[in-house]
Amino acid sequence: MRIKVFTLFPEMLRPMLGASILGRAIAAGLIEVELIDIRAYSADKHRNTDDYPFGGGAGMVMAAQPIVDAFAAHCPQPFNGRRVYLSPRGRTLNQRIVEELAREEEIALLCGHYEGVDQRALDSVIDEELSIGDYVLTGGELGALVVIDAVARLIPGVLGSEESSEDESFTTGLLEYPQYTRPANFRGKAAPEVLLGGNHAEIVAWRREQSLSLTLDRRPELLDAAPLDDGDRDTLARLKRAREIEARLPGLARQGLQAADQFPKGWFGAFVPEASRKAAKRQCFSGRRHVGYLWQAFSMGFIPAYTEGDTAWKHWHDKQEEGFLLYLPDERLLYRVRGGIDLEALSTLGHFILANQALTRTYVRTGKPGKGPYYCEIQKEAAQ
Ligand SMILES: C[S@@+](CC[C@H](N)C(=O)[O-])C[C@H]1O[C@@H](n2cnc3c(N)ncnc32)[C@H](O)[C@@H]1O
Repeated sequence: MRIKVFTLFPEMLRPMLGASILGRAIAAGLIEVELIDIRAYSADKHRNTDDYPFGGGAGMVMAAQPIVDAFAAHCPQPFNGRRVYLSPRGRTLNQRIVEELAREEEIALLCGHYEGVDQRALDSVIDEELSIGDYVLTGGELGALVVIDAVARLIPGVLGSEESSEDESFTTGLLEYPQYTRPANFRGKAAPEVLLGGNHAEIVAWRREQSLSLTLDRRPELLDAAPLDDGDRDTLARLKRAREIEARLPGLARQGLQAADQFPKGWFGAFVPEASRKAAKRQCFSGRRHVGYLWQAFSMGFIPAYTEGDTAWKHWHDKQEEGFLLYLPDERLLYRVRGGIDLEALSTLGHFILANQALTRTYVRTGKPGKGPYYCEIQKEAAQ
């Protein structure tokens, strides 16, 4: 890949091109970047490159002559690549465009300055205008560096391993999941346990969920074009439902969807008595998916109910300060309840299971066939 940058200020680019990954890639010959000083091509005796705009207005305009002559000297026709003018009027740069550029043999980048460039120069030597975002810079040099940096990372060998550019934000059509490194606990903030456990499948699933969640929150429009499978669509439906619930019930800290699907396993063991556990498992486990089995176990009578009705509701109400877990079996969502919860709003949610953190007391709201809402409190010795 050869990149030619046409600029009035080559010294602005040099430090960036000499350092870090870009510096190494250039030194290794993986990309070649040539800086062309437009001023050197000025036919003006004072080497002027700009003039007042015809028709009046503030600022100066870069004249056509030095630019067109510089291109003629360095990008003679036919030019085997793409000639780009960095401009706020251009197509906004994104990863797809970067990928297109990375497939070119050669790129020429024209950096404007002042009020811009005489249109006749653009008409003569430019194939396309690209913007790096909806704001105005003083010159195109930073834009050129952005293009060079983004394109270079896609050139084989520039990054340490080929994998490093495959998983990034946008490459997958989604934003990237959060990253963590040592220490596992930084000033009281623990890295997610799943990342430390070494279970590759669980890590992949966790990262996918995080990517979907971040994209839904920050850049939902990306989801329209992202390649999604049925599992992703199920995850997104649950995440959207979770947002609705969280808007109605402030103070809920959502646990990962994976955790929500796995958590009831623990509950199952804690609340289904040993004697009926085998039968309950046969009835309530469906293949690899354990989703909803606690709910089924309860509704099929495998979990004994000790007290019912308003007393249980009142009891839980009084104990809120203990810190509870909330599980919504229909949505397969799991929350930590922080600092109390709006019980009115909670009772509009449909089925739910509340448990104190030690799983020694669970409070279930269900609808038994033929009956209205049914509340039950289960008390147990601390679960194993
Ligand atoms: C002050 S700007 C000129 C802006 C121009 N008068 C306009 O309103 O479109 C000077 C130069 O900075 C560069 N530039 C400014 N904003 C840019 C952006 N968002 N993306 C790429 N290049 C930009 C262009 O090369 C431009 O010629």
